Formats: sequence, structure tokens, C-alpha cells
Amino acid sequence: MTANDVGAFLHPFAKAARANFVSIVRGEGARLWTADGAELIDAMASLWYCNVGHGRRAIADAVAAQMSTLEAYSCFEPFTNQPADELAARLVGLSPIANSRVFLCGSGSEAVDTSIKLARLAHRLAGHPERTLVISRDRGYHGTNLGGTSAQGIPPNREGWGPLVPDIVQVPGDDIEALSVFMAERANQVAAVLTEPVQGAGGVFPPPEGYLAEVRALCDRHGALLIFDEVITGFGRLGHWFGAEHYGVTPDLITFAKAVTSGYQQIGGVLVGNAVREPIEADPAYILRHGYTYSGHASACAAALSNLDILVDEDLLANAQPMGRRLADGLDSLAADGAIDHVRGAGGVWAASLLAGHDAMAVRDTMLTLGVVTRAIGTEALAFCPPLVITDAQIDRIVDTLATALSTTALSTTAAATPVR
Ligand SMILES: Cc1ncc(COP(=O)(O)O)c(C=O)c1O
Repeated sequence: MTANDVGAFLHPFAKAARANFVSIVRGEGARLWTADGAELIDAMASLWYCNVGHGRRAIADAVAAQMSTLEAYSCFEPFTNQPADELAARLVGLSPIANSRVFLCGSGSEAVDTSIKLARLAHRLAGHPERTLVISRDRGYHGTNLGGTSAQGIPPNREGWGPLVPDIVQVPGDDIEALSVFMAERANQVAAVLTEPVQGAGGVFPPPEGYLAEVRALCDRHGALLIFDEVITGFGRLGHWFGAEHYGVTPDLITFAKAVTSGYQQIGGVLVGNAVREPIEADPAYILRHGYTYSGHASACAAALSNLDILVDEDLLANAQPMGRRLADGLDSLAADGAIDHVRGAGGVWAASLLAGHDAMAVRDTMLTLGVVTRAIGTEALAFCPPLVITDAQIDRIVDTLATALSTTALSTTAAATPVR
């Protein structure tokens, strides 16, 4: 095989030797069209991000207007720009963390690595350089930069890259006792606990009842910071601006990306509370030596502002629960019929756990040929995370298509193929 056989584009999270991909050419609401003319329902909001749906002219116009005035300019000292300032103010206004500021970057992975660095930095500046340990959970997905890769609780994603970042360790996903014991043992070394409010790419696992509040209490007891990775749960997925509000637990740092722009431009960021602000702002001469070329990118910030307007004007956060309920009820009926094993999720993000012998990738592929985009996650499940504008009829079609795909995809006696993520 030559390089030409597989095309020039080395795809993310894909078989490196795969040659054929489904080319998406157009989107509108929860509908997509392929280059071959097929119409699809997007049951994944692309990759957990397109909360306002595809084809929003208002966002395109906002970005075009900004680009024709000032496309972007560095925000490294001494510069700033109006869309970045306005977006920061909007985000701080939405933040569940009191008195927060916001650091802007270009992706969820950058946001996660930023949060890890900020947590360690805050302790060092506060006189505790020994606090470098970051604890994450099995099944956690925290992006693919080196910090986030080191924090991942999905073993295949950690393997093969050589030594990862030291002092980032995982605890069992749902076991508060294990976390408690570990934190007590390493009490004076812990910088932060990093967790998604609902674990997403690791399989769509909501936290056990009371888990996040207990993690908060453990962090308080041991002087550690709490980081919520809200790259999926932020901006409406659980019916609130942030999952922190949904679960009534306030962290010290919140990472976000994805639905802050619904993917119309690339933005990530970190909401930063007093526990980090105070040490880094204490010395007026202290320079934060961290930042990205595109931190505060003006056109990307314009996209975010327009996206936030749509979320507010159309009251889309209110759609997450009823949409999720209808989807979960439909999936539950498949479980009751014995077609799938069980259903799990929260708000507007759900997973169908398949019966043993059903290969999630094969079912995904069958659904795709039947006109519905879903995603194989973990080893046994399919994820559903539709745009918040999806219609009831489209939700019902997703469920019906899953039922059809399951009945036409043979049960295999061999182990299911490992999904690419
Ligand atoms: C919880 C979480 N954190 C971080 C990331 C990484 O974000 P990105 O792919 O934008 O770098 C993701 C991506 O899916 C995510 O789900």
C-alpha cells in the first residue's frame, strides 16, 4: 500500500490505514447531507458539540463581520480585543464559580492541560510546591494533549506515547472510598482532582448519587482543588449552563470547549476561581507564562457570542431534559424488549449498552447506512448526544433505527472489536 491509497488527510481517532471516509457536505438543524447525497440525522451533535444545530446563518454572519473588521490579533501582553473581552465577561456572568475569571484557548485538550498547570501553579505560588499530584478517574476522557492523555482513564488512549506526565494518577471510577483512602495517604501532595460531571467519551456514565459532593468535601478536607472538565457538559447539555449547577457542586476550575461555540469556531477555556486567582494575582509583577497563539481569537469569540445569544434567545437549555427524556424512554423500551442491555445517561446525553455479542462499531455502521449518526463508545455501547434543536420525530427515528440495526446486525460469538475511542 502506498501513501496515496489512503489519502493525504491523516484522520484523528481513526484507523491510520483506512481509505474511505464519509464526507459531510452540509448541515441544517439535526440533519446532515453527505457528498453522496444521503441525508442523515446527527444523533451526536457532531462530536458532542453542536448544541444549537447546524447551518446557523447568524453565527456565520457574526464571524464574517468580525473577520472583515479584524480577523484576529494576539492577546499576549499588552493586547486585547473587544470580542474576547465581551466573551470573557459573558462567561464569567454565567460561571457557577464566584468571582471567576476566564482563560481562553483553542480546544478542550488545551483547556484541560491549562487547568492542570494552573492547579499546580496555584499551590506552588501559595507556598506548596510539593502539591503536584492530579487525580482523575477510570473512564475519564480529558483530551489528547500530554497532560490530558496522562489524565485519561481509558487505557488504550494512554498507551504507546512513551512516558506520560508524572504525578497524574487514576482512581476507580465510581468508588468514593478508594478516592478517600488515596487522598488521605497522599494528602499533602494532591494538587487537584479532575473529573467530568458526567463521563462522556469513556461511556456516558453519570456520577453515582452524591459522588461529586463527596469529592468536593474530600478536596476541601485535604486542601486540593477540584476541576470539573465540562467540555461536554457545559453550555446546556444537562439543562444548565454547566453540569456544576445540575449537580449543585461548585468546583475551583471548570474547563469548557465544544458547545461554547457549538463548533462554529474552535474555542476552549478555563473558568478560574479565587483559589487560583489569589495566588497568581498576589504579586503584581508575576507573569503568567502560559498561553496560546489563538487565546482570545477575535473571530472565534464572535462565534461564541452569537452562539450564546442563540442558546438564550431560543431557550435551548430548556430542551435538554425533555429531549433526553424522550430519547431515554425510547431506548428504555428497547431494553424492556430485550434488544439492548441497559440505558444510562443524564440530561441530553445518553448511551445504549448493547447485549454481549453485539459489536458497537458494527451497529454504528448499520445505523449510518440507515441514515443515523451515532458513536461507538467504550467497548459495548452507543452514545447519543443530539443537537438541542432536534425534533421529537427525529428522536423517534433514532430509536427506531437502532432497533432495526440491532435486528439486522448479527450477534457475534467473538469479542467485540475495540472502538477507536
Ligand atoms: C471531557 C472532555 N475533555 C476534553 C476533551 C478534549 O477536547 P478537544 O477534543 O476539543 O481537545 C473532550 C473531547 O471530547 C472531552 O469530552
